[in-house]
Amino acid sequence: MKIFHGVIIKFSLLITIIFCITSIETIAFIPPDGSKHKFVGVAKCKMCHKKEKKGLQYEIWKESGHSKAYDVLATPEAKELAEKNGIIDPQKDSKCLKCHTTGHDAPPELKGKKYKLSEGVGCESCHGAGGDYYKSKVMKGLRNGTVDPITVGLIIPNEETCTQCHNADDIMPIKEEFNFKKMWAKIAHPIPKG
Ligand code: HEC
Ligand code: HEC
Ligand code: HEC
Ligand code: HEC
Repeated sequence: MKIFHGVIIKFSLLITIIFCITSIETIAFIPPDGSKHKFVGVAKCKMCHKKEKKGLQYEIWKESGHSKAYDVLATPEAKELAEKNGIIDPQKDSKCLKCHTTGHDAPPELKGKKYKLSEGVGCESCHGAGGDYYKSKVMKGLRNGTVDPITVGLIIPNEETCTQCHNADDIMPIKEEFNFKKMWAKIAHPIPKG
């Protein structure tokens, strides 16, 4: 009887542990928009967002620090910062990649064939994974209001989108308090009117 009792206790302990592990797993990953859209990569957006009459979104991004966010992880400055935090290779460590690349915490099955770490902070870092909104029909529907952005995973970014990375933790030394107006002005990419 005693032995049987012990087995039951051990068994329920095991169940509890398994339960805890699986629930930690589900809590730990929360996609930016809380759903399951695939990352398609900057090249897809570039196809339609590179022309002057559209607003040169691709060029503006390419010229910005965001397109180089992965490359800067290979600089001596990055190595030094990594060392201070006990990190061997910043281009491989999620402690750096989480802010210097796109959708880093997303599970592998949501990273499409064209997904590349080297794109750094791509369009989808701010606008959400594009797998379900990049098609022409959906994009036009979004623009004329017949498609609700939430249903296809498009994020209309705001200051809170930026502060998920800018001054978000104590790894990056803060050079300057994040000023949304000033920082947004440097990378704004509106669609021209008319
Ligand atoms: C097949 C062409 C096409 C592709 C690919 C595409 N877009 Fe668009 N996008 C458009 C069109 C067309 C509009 C409507 C505005 C316009 O005419 O310029 C638009 C509008 C938008 C808007 C504004 C939506 C709104 O609510 O006003 C955002 C943001 C956007 N695109 C982001 C992206 C991102 C990010 C990607 C890549 C993941 C992407 N687009 C890929 C064609 C495209
Ligand atoms: C919480 C998000 C976050 C994390 C984590 C993070 N960074 Fe950064 N990093 C940023 C942001 C945002 C900037 C741009 C700051 C600015 O210019 O205002 C930046 C800038 C940098 C720069 C300067 C780039 C330049 O153009 O001068 C280097 C180097 C760098 N990070 C390395 C690292 C390394 C190495 C790690 C890991 C040890 C790391 N970062 C982790 C957000 C982060
Ligand atoms: C996924 C993380 C992430 C998000 C989200 C993000 N940034 Fe950044 N940002 C970075 C990193 C990392 C750098 C540094 C890259 C480099 O130096 O090459 C940076 C650099 C910049 C720079 C260049 C700094 C300079 O003075 O040259 C500007 C401007 C900027 N971000 C503005 C914004 C704005 C505005 C938003 C929100 C609309 C935003 N960022 C959202 C990670 C992010
Ligand atoms: C650092 C964050 C960030 C990145 C990276 C980014 N965007 Fe945006 N984007 C924004 C913000 C913020 C807005 C303004 C949202 C609003 O209307 O208030 C915006 C607006 C837009 C609009 C709509 C402009 C309008 O006039 O309505 C388009 C189109 C767009 N982005 C396309 C892109 C494309 C394509 C890329 C990549 C080449 C990209 N964005 C990269 C933050 C970002």
